[in-house]
Amino acid sequence: MNIKQSITELIGHTPLLELNGLIKALDLDAHIIVKLEYFNVNMSSKDRAALRIIEDAEKSGELTYDDVVVETTSGNTGISLAAICAAKGYNFLAYMQDGVTKERYRTINAFGYKTISFSELESVKKAMAENGGSFMAGLNALKADLRSQDGIFYTDQCFNMSNPAVHRDTTGPEIWEDTDGEVDIIVGSVGTGGTISGVGQYIKKKNQLVEIVAVEPDEDAMPHPDYPNRSVIDGIERISDVADNEIPGTVDFSVIDRIVSVSAEDAYQAARCAARKDGVLLGSSSGAALHAAIEIAKREENRGKRIVVIAPDTGLRYLSTNLYGR
Ligand SMILES: Cc1ncc(COP(=O)(O)O)c(C=O)c1O
Repeated sequence: MNIKQSITELIGHTPLLELNGLIKALDLDAHIIVKLEYFNVNMSSKDRAALRIIEDAEKSGELTYDDVVVETTSGNTGISLAAICAAKGYNFLAYMQDGVTKERYRTINAFGYKTISFSELESVKKAMAENGGSFMAGLNALKADLRSQDGIFYTDQCFNMSNPAVHRDTTGPEIWEDTDGEVDIIVGSVGTGGTISGVGQYIKKKNQLVEIVAVEPDEDAMPHPDYPNRSVIDGIERISDVADNEIPGTVDFSVIDRIVSVSAEDAYQAARCAARKDGVLLGSSSGAALHAAIEIAKREENRGKRIVVIAPDTGLRYLSTNLYGR
């Protein structure tokens, strides 16, 4: 018999798929292979980090059943934590960035937990008002508050080293094993940077020459309160040209060879191409990584190379956005 006893057994071991339709349509001379993280039980790579963060805290005694697990999340981490907390019997609360899709709020609610938007919090509003409307100032005030409260286990995904560790221990080895070590370039988008950093740490130990490419949104692809209808790339952050205190502690620049900025339109085009030519429905940050990979594949020096694109989640989470048209 092969009957799983918990959703925690349905995380990891996601497949690699070569996008043969896209490669043919764009007449590329390299292999473009996506690692489909939507095969995780809650349909994103955040399942890995969420499970490891909870299990490491259980082992260290930092998390007990008297605590409320809390995260400040733009979506996928909150969804993964909510599902894992439901399965394990913990209380959970998600503070959510304003403007993320309704599906995300509702999924967390479906697991039985409350969500609170940043804009509902007086402390966040005050810090923003005092700092010229800076979203970062509001977020940092909330985080400082959470770190100092008792009865809370703040998962702190941007500074919790269990996050990159799980990708070093699972995502990286899976890519290495499924390609028999024949991988030339790995491309991944950066939210906390946990995925690309952990993967890079493992892969660079196996072969220094594998190129690790981190993908960030260009400035116009970031959510902005003055432009609520702007097309954005969800879940990823800029790491070049930003202040040091805006860079998550989980980014390991020592294993990143290059950072590429991608526009929302280019990310969407790439995701649409994968949907129409290969029947693969990706989210916008996967589209961003895919666009970067396509540009890399077009270069003469990359002819015949094997490029693995980490695709963090599914397009199903973005059907109410501009990604696939409204
Ligand atoms: C939408 C989205 N984009 C990008 C990422 C990359 O994640 P990180 O850099 O935080 O590991 C994730 C992780 O699941 C994600 O959900």
